[in-house]
Amino acid sequence: MSATVITNIATLVTNDPSLRDTDPLGLVRDAAVVIEGDRVVWTGESSKAPATDNRVDAGGRAVLPGFVDSHSHLVFAGDRTEEFNARMSGRPYSAGGIRTTVAATRAAGDAELEANLTRHLAEALRQGTTTLETKSGYGLTVEDEARALRLAARHTDEVTYLGAHIVAPEFADDPAGYVALVTGDMLNACAPHARWIDVFCEKGAFDGDQARAVLTAGKAKGLHPRIHANQLSHGPGVQLAVELDAASADHCTHLTDADVDALANSSTVATLLPGAEFSTRAAWPDARRLLDAGATVALSTDCNPGSSFTSSVPFCVALAVRDMGMTPDEAVWAATAGGAAALRRTDVGRLVPGAYADLVLLDAPSHVHLAYRPGVPLVTGVWRRGVQEVR
Ligand code: NIG
Ligand code: FE
Repeated sequence: MSATVITNIATLVTNDPSLRDTDPLGLVRDAAVVIEGDRVVWTGESSKAPATDNRVDAGGRAVLPGFVDSHSHLVFAGDRTEEFNARMSGRPYSAGGIRTTVAATRAAGDAELEANLTRHLAEALRQGTTTLETKSGYGLTVEDEARALRLAARHTDEVTYLGAHIVAPEFADDPAGYVALVTGDMLNACAPHARWIDVFCEKGAFDGDQARAVLTAGKAKGLHPRIHANQLSHGPGVQLAVELDAASADHCTHLTDADVDALANSSTVATLLPGAEFSTRAAWPDARRLLDAGATVALSTDCNPGSSFTSSVPFCVALAVRDMGMTPDEAVWAATAGGAAALRRTDVGRLVPGAYADLVLLDAPSHVHLAYRPGVPLVTGVWRRGVQEVR
């Protein structure tokens, strides 16, 4: 198998886990990376790089692991421009808008849904995302949820069943009946296409007991739990996530000290989604508080047509640094290694021998520019599984 060296890298972010306590980003200056097939086989100083058949000159720029976006909702049709406009004129966000997207998604054909999905995946890839989780949750019938997961599974291994996004409109007067469907026939139809199960634990969606029933049923079917928790108000979601050893509690905007402690003493990642606070004009989650307590923090987009219609991890990194108390180093770690931890993956989010050769080349000398130069399209090269897909 022929090997390629990417050399003349001014700053290489490896996220080498063996350096986690002293140098979390595992930075190497004047570095090189060697790729063989779909894997990284060597990283280190340029001058020590082994000889290879092919050579790519990074031009004194920065290379980091491809972003791991561990939370998105990309199987949908339609958009919610009017709702966004109304919000920017002062109307508050409520999860009720989800129903608009459910109606549009149900009405769409498979080809339209998949075209929309692939368009957003390509958009994310151009911005450096090489691993992406995505969910159902805009179908809310057995057929529509299974269809969403089937389509998503054609494009990513990280597929999440979110039949419990809101109570389906047909069950408005019978939420218990909807939970029975989500944990019964719908779960049976969806489980073969998914790795994860999720629930929106929030007033107006599912309470703690309902969320526990959903996640427990999913676990019994071999799905691993993750949860939309404490987004719009304080609730039991974070404690439930820790109790069930969920891979991730997502949003974490409204936390008590007990929630922060529970996360810090667990292997549940706190995934923060600043695109949602940006697009709903809500208070920011306090990343500093979580990090200081010792919790593992991930940053992801939550890309969806309602609360956060951005596929840009760099944008989320910039927001987290500007408004959530994260340093640029912490935010870059959270968007790469943190996302990987939220998906319980060790083969992505780091550039060490054996990991997938998923790399981003920035048109900048260091990763700090992701926050320092917000809104600038700095991603100038993307390799996924050893193949350069963006140049
Ligand atoms: O993560 N909170 C629940 N779900 C999405 C919003 C979905 C929508 O508004 O369409 C979220 O923010
Ligand atoms: Fe979400």
